[in-house]
Amino acid sequence: MSVQPNERWVEEAWGKVIAKIDQTSRTIGAGFPHVSKEGKYDCTEPNGWTSGFWPGLLWLVYRDTNNEELKRLAEECESKMDVCIDEYTKLHHDVGFMWSLTSVANYKLTGSDESKLRALKVAAWLASRFNIRGNYIRAWNDSNWKSENGNAGWAIIDCMMNLSLLFWASEEIRDPRFKHIAMEHANTVLREFVREDGSVYHIVQFDPETGERVGALGGQGFAPESAWARGAAWALYGLALCYKYTQDDKYLQGSKKVAHFFLANLPEDLVPYWDFRLTTQEGAPRDSSAAAIAASGLLLLEELLPAEEGRLYGTSARRILRSMAEQYAIWDASDEAILPHGTGHWPANKNIDVGLIYGDYYFVEALAKLRGQTELFW
Ligand code: GLY
Repeated sequence: MSVQPNERWVEEAWGKVIAKIDQTSRTIGAGFPHVSKEGKYDCTEPNGWTSGFWPGLLWLVYRDTNNEELKRLAEECESKMDVCIDEYTKLHHDVGFMWSLTSVANYKLTGSDESKLRALKVAAWLASRFNIRGNYIRAWNDSNWKSENGNAGWAIIDCMMNLSLLFWASEEIRDPRFKHIAMEHANTVLREFVREDGSVYHIVQFDPETGERVGALGGQGFAPESAWARGAAWALYGLALCYKYTQDDKYLQGSKKVAHFFLANLPEDLVPYWDFRLTTQEGAPRDSSAAAIAASGLLLLEELLPAEEGRLYGTSARRILRSMAEQYAIWDASDEAILPHGTGHWPANKNIDVGLIYGDYYFVEALAKLRGQTELFW
């Protein structure tokens, strides 16, 4: 990645991040924020898919500032999550989000053996969700998304960001079993989720007994054949990570294809509407979290590609991030969130045009990358 330390807006934004997290860490503490409405983050249970993002954000800032209080809070969040590891029926495919940004981050930064063990246990759990007939990691549990015939056959695009926990585990224990599972799932995604134009499905449904594809569902997107913006961002970043871990070119090509679709469909301020294929954009909410995730993924693409080719992705990421830093971000205390205008789940009429903790996380992760930090927790 070409680091340009003289880009003043990056340094200014980073300084504001440090000040903001110093402030919000006093009110959020060792909680599990998910959605910010009317200026205040909620406090969710530790078993939700978003519980890793706040401690992950604390680690990102701690890594730069050595502020011991942020480390203490991140470790407290990680300990509070221990209870979830034994809650078999409540755990889900999103354990990669949860424990990469807590235990893997802690292990990478401090060498904690306890954290390493936690992350390995959870990787084993994630691997156990692999359906060997359909070659996919099962999404959710029956108790999450209600479906007449159960959802044991559902796989979702978001899961791409969970695969790095499996790649990491394989490298740690020097055993490729987990990596094989991650690659099989990613191969299924390339085959069944990524469309010819680079847009992606959110949910693909398989017969869990035979493994045959049954169809696609709209999920958090507008419709089965629409193009959920955050889904594209998950695919872009997740496939780039698959390439980073495996050096298998097909993942790189897949990530680039999705990136081109994403970039070609952005509005003027480079923050996408929540779905790229709406019947009308008039009055439609944006999803700043999709922009932040994609920007961080684009910076990884830049790092992985030869300089000449990588520039397109890096320049695009910088433009998106600058737009958000200057036109979107809330730097004062009027909101605990950094990035407003995120859309969680439009079809369920939930969390629309709000601050989302994962938007904040990826925004800060991407800024850290722009300052030369290339070590990932993923
Ligand atoms: N993983 C769920 C979402 O992106 O909203």
